[in-house]
Amino acid sequence: MVLPRPRRLSGIDMAPAEPENTQELGATMISGGVQISKTRGLTVDGEQHGAIRRDDLRFEAGALGAGACSVVRLARHTATNERYAVKLFSIFDDAKRRQLVEEIRTLFSLDCAALVQFHGAYLDGATGKVGVVLDYMDAGSVEGLINQRRAPLPEKVAASILYQCCWGLGYLHFERRLHRDVKPGNILLSSRGEARLSDFGISKALTDEEESAKTMVGTFRYMAPERLRGDAYSFESDVWAAGMVLLELLRGDAVFPPSCTPLDLNGACERLARDFVAEKLDGINVSSDCVDFAEACLRRRAEDRALPDLLLGGPWLAGLDLEGCCVTLAPFLASLRSAAAARPPPAPPARQSSTFAADLSLIQTLDASSDDDDEATVEG
Ligand SMILES: Nc1ncnc2c1ncn2[C@@H]1O[C@H](COP(=O)(O)OP(=O)(O)O)[C@@H](O)[C@H]1O
Ligand SMILES: [Mg+2]
Repeated sequence: MVLPRPRRLSGIDMAPAEPENTQELGATMISGGVQISKTRGLTVDGEQHGAIRRDDLRFEAGALGAGACSVVRLARHTATNERYAVKLFSIFDDAKRRQLVEEIRTLFSLDCAALVQFHGAYLDGATGKVGVVLDYMDAGSVEGLINQRRAPLPEKVAASILYQCCWGLGYLHFERRLHRDVKPGNILLSSRGEARLSDFGISKALTDEEESAKTMVGTFRYMAPERLRGDAYSFESDVWAAGMVLLELLRGDAVFPPSCTPLDLNGACERLARDFVAEKLDGINVSSDCVDFAEACLRRRAEDRALPDLLLGGPWLAGLDLEGCCVTLAPFLASLRSAAAARPPPAPPARQSSTFAADLSLIQTLDASSDDDDEATVEG
């Protein structure tokens, strides 16, 4: 099954591009053909993409989330009152700048209903930050959903999320791109029932000659066995991570705690998929099609794993479509919202939320002998 290539999204044109002879003062060539200018907005390989300016946006208090390389804040467009999530990167840090460029290149070149939608980027000269403007996913991330619910999610809710996740991965793989960091915190939800893959900072485009990547980059707990071993890996490793997300949804709980070590994971990955899935879903009532799906994602040997097109057409997800998934997911998310609103507000946490804590504190940079493109960044 070949996934259709959806229409290309044209960035919203928030302000007209300025003429060629505009003063270049403050323009920043970030790298690799990505240029972000205070006056002319974003240009990728010479192609201009919606000139969004910092002044067009009014930021709301607080942050939506934070990761290794960015803080994400909610902003309103002053003219339209439309809400956007703005991912803020400091351009003075080499690693963050590399992720920014990769993220922009990916967002710029791809357009799929199951990937977070991109509206442009601007440079804020006053803070030295680049803002990447994205659709605001108003129901948070799958990580937030699992943390809030703390109980197994209904199988049809898990199927609606996995369908959209596989659709996004199928699209990315069709475009020869590895995501490399599929995990609950990087799947975003909207109250319309959309589940979209986000966070392309460490994604990698494979050239026509390349079949795999080798760099140790991503989040240990969702890494496929071949990645943990440091072997070459490819599209199948994103599928493994999707399988781990599925287990977490069905359990309503993490499969491996954030504190686990690569050694803990290695032991678990030695097991047969059938045994691993049975152990992790012990006591949870799910259909045999769902168990088969999880097994197909979590086979130890990458070559035995099913790829997204096969998973989408398999018995568990067959019959679903993107619209139907939203119809299932939206009321479920609405019911969680009402339940949360009816509860008394929780006491302020003693420490930051898991997204903050995990992303900010567990980043390690390994001195991997990289035959790949970028530095090796690994999160626990
Ligand atoms: N478009 C968005 N809408 C709503 N929340 C978002 C959006 N993008 C990111 N977030 C929140 O911010 C967190 C970190 O964003 P992410 O893109 O994963 O950053 P990083 O690359 O630093 O990990 C996400 O887990 C999510 O909670
Ligand atoms: Mg992230």
